[in-house]
Amino acid sequence: MITATSDSVGYEIVDQTGLIVLDNPPVNAASHHLRHGLMQAAQALSVAEGVAVIAVYGATRAFIAGADIREFGQTPIDPTLPAVCLAIEGSRVPVVAVMHGPTLGGGLEVALSAQARVALPDLVTGFPEVTLGIIPGAGGTQRAPRLIGLAATLELATTGRRIEACEAVSLGLIDRVMDGPPRDAALAAAAEVLAGTLATRRTGDLTVPPDPEALTAAADRLAKSQPRLFAPPRAVEAVAASTGPLDKGLARERALFNTCLKSPQRAALIHAFFAERVVAKIPERDATPREIASVGVVGGGTMGSGIATALLLAGLPVTLAEQNDAALDRAFAAISKNLDGAVARGKLNAAGRDTLLAEDLVLTADLADLAAADLVIEAVFEDLDVKRDIFRRLDAIAKPGAILASNTSYLDINKLAAVTNRTQDVLGLHFFSPAHIMRLLEVVVAKDTAPETTATGFTLAKRLRKIAVRAGVCDGFIGNRILSHYRTATDHMVLDGASPQQVDRALEAFGFAMGPFAVADLAGLDIGWANRKRLAATRDPAARYSPIADRICEAGWFGRKTGQGYYTYDGAPEPNPGVARIIDEERAKAGIAPRRFTDADITDRTLTAMIAEAARVLGDGIALRPIDVDAVLLFGYGFPRFRGGPMHFADGIGAAALIDRIEGYAAEDPQFWQVPPLLRHLAATGQTFADLNGEA
Ligand code: 3HC
Repeated sequence: MITATSDSVGYEIVDQTGLIVLDNPPVNAASHHLRHGLMQAAQALSVAEGVAVIAVYGATRAFIAGADIREFGQTPIDPTLPAVCLAIEGSRVPVVAVMHGPTLGGGLEVALSAQARVALPDLVTGFPEVTLGIIPGAGGTQRAPRLIGLAATLELATTGRRIEACEAVSLGLIDRVMDGPPRDAALAAAAEVLAGTLATRRTGDLTVPPDPEALTAAADRLAKSQPRLFAPPRAVEAVAASTGPLDKGLARERALFNTCLKSPQRAALIHAFFAERVVAKIPERDATPREIASVGVVGGGTMGSGIATALLLAGLPVTLAEQNDAALDRAFAAISKNLDGAVARGKLNAAGRDTLLAEDLVLTADLADLAAADLVIEAVFEDLDVKRDIFRRLDAIAKPGAILASNTSYLDINKLAAVTNRTQDVLGLHFFSPAHIMRLLEVVVAKDTAPETTATGFTLAKRLRKIAVRAGVCDGFIGNRILSHYRTATDHMVLDGASPQQVDRALEAFGFAMGPFAVADLAGLDIGWANRKRLAATRDPAARYSPIADRICEAGWFGRKTGQGYYTYDGAPEPNPGVARIIDEERAKAGIAPRRFTDADITDRTLTAMIAEAARVLGDGIALRPIDVDAVLLFGYGFPRFRGGPMHFADGIGAAALIDRIEGYAAEDPQFWQVPPLLRHLAATGQTFADLNGEA
């Protein structure tokens, strides 16, 4: 009979074994009731007559996935996790932890305070705290070094790397791997403790050999690789304290943990954690997705090949259509190269790659071969007429119920749907290049798109291990619409006096992996050029226009692929002197005396432009919630995760201050710098973007 000690914990006694079961779905987060129940159960069993060993296991798909992230930032409720760990470590009878599934952060810390640890084969463990802007706060930085030494602990605690059961055993973090359901493994492990075949010891009683070189190496590595992150160096400081007495080390760890908890990076990183998950909460989430067993891809260029690669890697057979054999050969070469990269990254082995190419990929020059596909993704040249022609033909070929998707980056999905007799089955699936690597997928919902079609886009994204964000139809959807706007702001700054390199440096210092001009060189400057030509007819003649990018393209400089763009690429990238000349000429033509921009001016203007357009995207209903915009910029545009996304960042500035900025800039260019109505509304009502996320 199980005695409940809280909503999510119970215990039973089987012969001499006290069994504690943790049951806090979905992942056994160490919420208040779990901590309370675990403490009560451990205390009750340690004084229960006849109990000689306690085994703790999880009834959900994890032992304990970590502290309850939703409780961070709120007033802590006793017992705290460190107190629970101390109680377990101090238990009169030995405690064995049965670790299975994701046992991360606080979950590992609970296990480390037990006197023995066994794992089931599905264990994934580690200290992901730094990815959330904090450090292990329940003894992890003190107990792990006592088992695996300073160097190995530093690596785990500063990177957040997740490891599997065998690596955990070889490191000495856990004692052994066992089989069976968690309760059976718990009884078996307890029997071994009683038989003396599974050794027990209190982790806190062990000592840590000093290793000053490991500490210096870790600090140096972080200073080079992640100079802007707050938590990882704090993890090094905490681990350093483990060579002294346990109580002092624990106190040091707690103090550093609390400092991290208060840092803006913690709030931003946890916002990003939830952004990744909340975006799946769409109005169509109860619709039944269609079965997708095979996919057609039309177009074998960079995007088509990348999409085909992503599908193959997810186990979906692909039929790729191109116009002729030469184009098919190029697509095959591109897909093979992508798969080679996946082999090099350890995602699959060489035999697996060969099977995918030989058995799962069909290349055809005949669109009719897509008749059996459940989903066809069009990834041809970005031209409305070309795409409409393809959609018309696909509609005649594809079987009833097959979904037709476009990978367009900007074009109107309604206009593509309109040429078909299945408007309910048409949507946009906007992948980001390289499509087999980038995590974002914008699922663009057109006027008639059926809820099941949208839901299918989301299940496909999950299968591809991508983050899908729901977007409405407009030029550029969420991401590219915002990008176009802030890129215009950066182009204006270059015309007015900043250099492309200074803009890149300033935004890289803010945290972007690459500045916008370096990104443009990588993507190919011809893409933006084609888009500007497309929009030329509808451009407002009163809007300020910088011709610099067009002139660079007219010179035949399309970025990396042509060896020159904003930078030159023979060897390490260098500023292109030809571009500097073009900039000078255009300034002279426009009568502009170049002025100085500080790096702060550059980031302020770029971020303000980004936030303003994002507010309009929200106002127009193109994105569901501010947190969806954050997800797009974080997972598709390199926005620094530790800043949380533009909407989260905007809340740190405040609506009123943003309006002041925009009105200040508007003195020079009232056409471009307009205050979005949503920002005015927030300022007037005292709300934040976060308030608009609802339950998210
Ligand atoms: N706290 C609160 N909620 C959590 C959570 C946590 N630690 N971990 C997961 N969840 C929630 C998710 O938000 C999601 O909720 P939803 O259904 O409402 O969207 C639900 O659990 C399921 O999570 P996923 O969708 O992510 O499920 P997966 O199976 O894909 O992944 C997982 C499971 C590997 C556990 C993944 O959720 C994960 O990595 N979680 C974070 C683990 C972590 O970082 N733990 C350390 C926390 S910090 C800590 O312990 C501090 C300590 O040192 C004091």
